Amino acid sequence: MPNQFPDNFLWGGAVAANQVEGAYCEDGKGLSTADVVKYVPPGQRIALEHALSMSRAELAAAALDEQEGNYPKRRGIDFYHRYKEDIALFAEMGFKVFRLSISWPRIFPRGDEQEPNEAGLRFYDNVFAELHKYGIEPLVTLSHYEMPVELVTRYNGWESRELIELFLKYADTVFLRYKDKVKYWLTFNEINAAIRFPYLGAGVLTEGKENPKQTAYQALHHQFMASALTVKRAREINPGFQIGCMLARKLIYPYSCHPGDVLKAQAENQLAQFCSDVQVRGYYPSYIKRHLAEHEVSIKMEPGDEAILKENRVDFLSFSYYMSTAVSTDESITERTEGNLSSGLVNPFLRTSDWGWQIDPTGLRIALKEMHDRYQIPLFVVENGLGAADVVEADGTIQDDYRIDYLAHHIGQMAEAIADGVELLGYTSWGCIDLISASTSEMRKRYGYIYVDQDDEGNGSLERTRKKSFYWYKKVIASNGADLAND
Ligand code: BG6
Repeated sequence: MPNQFPDNFLWGGAVAANQVEGAYCEDGKGLSTADVVKYVPPGQRIALEHALSMSRAELAAAALDEQEGNYPKRRGIDFYHRYKEDIALFAEMGFKVFRLSISWPRIFPRGDEQEPNEAGLRFYDNVFAELHKYGIEPLVTLSHYEMPVELVTRYNGWESRELIELFLKYADTVFLRYKDKVKYWLTFNEINAAIRFPYLGAGVLTEGKENPKQTAYQALHHQFMASALTVKRAREINPGFQIGCMLARKLIYPYSCHPGDVLKAQAENQLAQFCSDVQVRGYYPSYIKRHLAEHEVSIKMEPGDEAILKENRVDFLSFSYYMSTAVSTDESITERTEGNLSSGLVNPFLRTSDWGWQIDPTGLRIALKEMHDRYQIPLFVVENGLGAADVVEADGTIQDDYRIDYLAHHIGQMAEAIADGVELLGYTSWGCIDLISASTSEMRKRYGYIYVDQDDEGNGSLERTRKKSFYWYKKVIASNGADLAND
């Protein structure tokens, strides 16, 4: 097959502020919802909900710094002080784009100040200048799994409609400041996460709520509104901005060809695309009504909300893709697997990662084709990668052939999807430099092309080392995706 990637294809990598920056209380930054999340030791990871939930008491103790403990997202990998070294390494790989997020509490420490924190704004000025020095385009997520903690304690996060105005002020501030420095923006990372993980996705505590789903969907509606109004504002400030939504693309297969299984998988795939249906098509899809009614959820909308959603749709759809699962109507099939914020049945045709995530490159092609058919707007794979426990060999090298294998097969399937007619803007693999895990706050689970010397407790020199995959990805980018071989 001739090379499929267009000349201007955006190759790069992705991170999030709370997983890399550290410096959690430097230069005026406020405490974020990620800073109060503790490391979860392996034996305690009973279910994802457990690892990603937060109680009022935990939050209060952590926010007052009264609780002894290991809070890895406070230290990240010290990108705040080492961004020049890290960006130089990205440039060496030939990155065309680097996806990062802005930490909202670095700009508005409590979330509701009149004036932004100048030192926080200056930090991102410096990061963008460094990227531009190497011709790397920033792709900026406005909200990637964090917000000022104060907004949780005062408003219960996105449950409150007041968050919309506060978010718009933050978005406005960074749009105006960086209007000539950043072209590509995303509003909320994996916006659909708020449904199952309201604290992670929307800063919402559901403790004591009679119907947590009601709270979560209402919070999500407020995020939809904030996102649409942000799109509107972005276009006013700079019509050249490209602004996208961001979805955790769960792909669900029928376990068998039994029509009941096929129907169940169809319903779950619809739900998995509920948020992009709203943000790309501009309205709540008809199928969601029944789902909400069955969960006794009724979303409160203000007059004008529907028009705002309709008039301010995104320019492109970005998404994360790591794995697929399966569903069945046969209750005797019970073997389950957990993955990127989702769980489902084990698929006997797939291998899994060290963390049990089912590896399915063909699924990426299926997802790309489905979304292209459904939306007919450009797509962008802004997260994909393999979390693995890398080993540093006696000679100091890291031979991560398993990662090269994972990435090569997924990139190969992207090429096939492009040949199938999908319009794809770019690819930013997740955690291009090792970082703190979003779900468990581990360091041991590594995604990077660049190894960072730090363990789960925060011990280590933080020294950066190029892995074998570093040289491989450099070659992939240099060949514009034509050479995927692991030499
Ligand atoms: C996505 C998130 O869900 O998956 C990232 O957007 C996250 O922030 C990534 O790090 C991988 O998940 P984890 O839990 O392995 O870090």
